[in-house]
Amino acid sequence: MQIESSRAAIVGAGTMGTTLAKLMVAQGVSVTLVDTNPGVLETSRLSLGDCAASVCFTTELTAAHRPDYVIESVPEITALKQEVVAQIESRVPDSTLIMTNTSGIPIDDIASRMRLPQRFLGAHFFNPADIVPAVEVVPGHRTEATVIEAACAWLAQLGKRPAVLNTCVPGFVANRIQHAVMRECLALLEQGVVEPEALDDIVQYSIGVRMALNGPLRQRDLNGLDTHLNIARYLYPDLDARDTPAALLADYVAEGRLGAKAGQGFFQWSEESRAQSQAQERVDLHRIIAIALQQDRTRA
Ligand SMILES: NC(=O)c1ccc[n+]([C@@H]2O[C@H](COP(=O)([O-])OP(=O)(O)OC[C@H]3O[C@@H](n4cnc5c(N)ncnc54)[C@H](O)[C@@H]3O)[C@@H](O)[C@H]2O)c1
Repeated sequence: MQIESSRAAIVGAGTMGTTLAKLMVAQGVSVTLVDTNPGVLETSRLSLGDCAASVCFTTELTAAHRPDYVIESVPEITALKQEVVAQIESRVPDSTLIMTNTSGIPIDDIASRMRLPQRFLGAHFFNPADIVPAVEVVPGHRTEATVIEAACAWLAQLGKRPAVLNTCVPGFVANRIQHAVMRECLALLEQGVVEPEALDDIVQYSIGVRMALNGPLRQRDLNGLDTHLNIARYLYPDLDARDTPAALLADYVAEGRLGAKAGQGFFQWSEESRAQSQAQERVDLHRIIAIALQQDRTRA
């Protein structure tokens, strides 16, 4: 279904802003893509290919754009987001629904300088936003119920699977779980328990493939909660519980081992292997999502 009447502005045209634009153009939304950096706008235009013709690229959101929806997608810095959403608010009608794509900064913190925080909430998309179905919908204390409903309805029209949190907690749901998993992965590497290749193999081809088909709770139901409890009783005292990031991670970042974009992270990357992996991931994500949705329909 195409959304004929809606107009959206995306503020921040980086990794997420560009794939958000791609998603919306495909659904017939009229898109304004804003970035203070003209070079980023040009990169985004090139990356959008044919979709770019339907996008208005600009370095400034103005009152003339009059979007129905705005998604803030600037870097994950609280003060910057506070400033950007307050500025967005001063340039759009009072009826415009404003969302932040923050990965986990509390919504009330970002809204602290807003005049009408009741029309503001988190809509946390996942990379690439045009493909990955889930969107965490995160209300702040002052977000109105009708705004949550309207955001969910619009996200569903975009083909997404909005899932609403009852309460905003730092990191929301996905990043809390991702970081809990990674804390343990890093601890296992630091302790020399396993090499990076073997760790990836074990996780990808065990809990990884299973979680592509069932969420963790449904999967545990299938497995048996009594077994899970027995394991949890002896295992939890042994799990990593540090409240600071692993030294290994901090060392890698200090050395410039930032991952594929830097040529080295846990593994070695060339520009070619990075591009190939990213392109292949886009293709394969569609296939995995189709299988997961099929499983979902079978359950219904
Ligand atoms: N990259 C991911 O995998 C991912 C996934 C989900 C959510 N997020 C979240 O999405 C947001 C954006 O992440 P990203 O990876 O796209 O970052 P990015 O650095 O690729 O893009 C951010 C863009 O914002 C622009 N910008 C900075 N200040 C601006 C301003 N005042 N007005 C307009 N544009 C401005 C920058 O020029 C940059 O192009 C962050 O909050 C991040 O946590 C990222």
